Amino acid sequence: MTQAAALDRTAESLLAFWAEAGVDAMLLDTPIDKIEAGKFVAPKPAEKKPLLVAAPKPGVSDISAAVAQARHLAAEAKDLDALKAAIAGFDGCPLKFEGARQSVFARGAVDAPLLIIGEGPGPEEDARGEPFIGDAGQLLDRMLGAAGLTDRVFITNTVFWRPPGDRTPSLQEQQVCAPFLERAIELVAPKMLLLLGAPSAKAMLKRDEGILSLRGRWFEWRSESGHLELPAMPTLHPAFLLWQPGAKKKAWSDLLTLTERLDRPDRGA
Ligand code: URA
Repeated sequence: MTQAAALDRTAESLLAFWAEAGVDAMLLDTPIDKIEAGKFVAPKPAEKKPLLVAAPKPGVSDISAAVAQARHLAAEAKDLDALKAAIAGFDGCPLKFEGARQSVFARGAVDAPLLIIGEGPGPEEDARGEPFIGDAGQLLDRMLGAAGLTDRVFITNTVFWRPPGDRTPSLQEQQVCAPFLERAIELVAPKMLLLLGAPSAKAMLKRDEGILSLRGRWFEWRSESGHLELPAMPTLHPAFLLWQPGAKKKAWSDLLTLTERLDRPDRGA
């Protein structure tokens, strides 16, 4: 890798880290009055450029058709094995055609009381076909072990193919995969959901706040059809914790809050 490429990658990682932490503006300690300083230059009106229309990818020219097809296939899956096979054979998610090696569905106990939803598969998951098996997954496993949750979880993601360059999955990609995820929740029938990181929390709860404001709070997740409702808690993504070990305390406190409720006989908030 050239030095410039390494610098680009560092800058991208740092920006991704800030975005994950909820930073949406950059401010200096003291404002600069550019008018006073005579440096203000009114921006030129933007040049009108012709609209670029992305070429449709195989099987995904219409998202509503892809969602309908995913819903149909998911509903037909009578168990988790059938659901895994349905996902693998589904051509409606653009990610499938953007370099992913295979679909990555889930791992864990099929009757788990806790269902954990991450963002999307990374390189290790893409290579081996199982979610959360890279560094972030190993940290997650250690945290689950320490909380006594190891055999009580089912782990999956909002999308089932690795996004190119490990970018955040788009809302559309998450929407196309959602019927499968919802069917997995229906089949596992957990007592509650743990949502790892902003992309998972935002997609599942349809909320816009940053993860630092959502984490550690209880929300009610409701299925598209409205007939399933579950308590759901967002927390920090383990990949974020690898970057920012100082934040582990917060994630650990969230996990303890969740475990305490999971172990309570009435499971009320
Ligand atoms: N990060 C995720 O969100 N999911 C995985 O499966 C792996 C890393």
